[in-house]
Amino acid sequence: MQHGVGGMAVRLVDAPTPLQNLTRLTKDLDGPDLLMKRDDVMPLGGGGNKLRKLERLLSDALSRGADTVITPGALQSNHARLTAAAAAQLGLRCILVLTDSVANRDEIYRRVGNFLLFQVFGAELRMIPGSEESAPVMEEVAEEERRRGAKPYVIPLGGSNALGSEGYAAAFDEMRAQARRQLNSDIDAVVVASGSGGTQAGLIAGALEANWRGEIVGISVGRPASAQKERIVAILEAMRPGRNDWRERIEVDDRFAGGGYGQPTVGMVRAVQLVARREGILLDPVYTGKAMDGLLSLIREKRFRKGQTVAFLHTGGSPALSAYWQSLSSDPMTGGGDDR
Ligand SMILES: Cc1ncc(COP(=O)(O)O)c(C=O)c1O
Repeated sequence: MQHGVGGMAVRLVDAPTPLQNLTRLTKDLDGPDLLMKRDDVMPLGGGGNKLRKLERLLSDALSRGADTVITPGALQSNHARLTAAAAAQLGLRCILVLTDSVANRDEIYRRVGNFLLFQVFGAELRMIPGSEESAPVMEEVAEEERRRGAKPYVIPLGGSNALGSEGYAAAFDEMRAQARRQLNSDIDAVVVASGSGGTQAGLIAGALEANWRGEIVGISVGRPASAQKERIVAILEAMRPGRNDWRERIEVDDRFAGGGYGQPTVGMVRAVQLVARREGILLDPVYTGKAMDGLLSLIREKRFRKGQTVAFLHTGGSPALSAYWQSLSSDPMTGGGDDR
């Protein structure tokens, strides 16, 4: 099934990304069969879920004659990194409006990881205080650029508008077709990190169109469940106007968000270590670490059981690991772990 813009001009993903059996983890946990959809494995810019949104958004930008893209993010934003990388590949200028909004971070957080990569990819950085809203600043920057004769295209937070989120309606089909081909059976549930909400919204749209009856559980990485659901409702209203059969399919678990967006938790650290040590796979400290903490708890709570197949969507983000060195280091010299 085709989703969203026909004739997409920009290809960034090299789909299908792998759908991998997590055999060691499945055996250890003695629960459902675990699969991981590796959307962290993409050739461009370190990979991640944002590239599926950016394919559509940047196709739209090019069709409108844009020469500059403007997008917001936190200092360790994966979306900002991947926008900068995609812009570099397409020969577009990239302006990042960066909010220093995550509390209790050290100077290293403000230097390494994605923040360093923004500069390596040649993006122009506009820094704003954590208290300021990025949307009006982006509009001001766009206006300045128009006055200079440029053709700016503004991409919203996380690329999570109706157009960008279609990337995950298509990804849902891709993943399910792979499961059928590889396992000769279907997926019973999908677990995904829920941030700006577009990835979960897109998966729900794809699931409904496919008449799939399984569950999509979003693990909130910051917001309370009610606020996160409102975001997802707004995206789905824009994606599928006139329908609301998706309402009952929106499921958000906010028990793993800890102190909020970008704040590390003990569960995140354990999940990152477990998946690295059992499967050799890097998760990230802000999204997939918390989402995996959620999945592990849901298995412990017998919400998912033996005989079921659960797919964890790996949405990327490992370039941010070094920014969370204090939580993740087990070096006796640094002490490690005093950051949680
Ligand atoms: C690595 C990673 N995982 C998950 C997400 C969440 O996706 P979404 O913003 O579509 O909810 C993001 C972006 O916010 C991300 O960078």
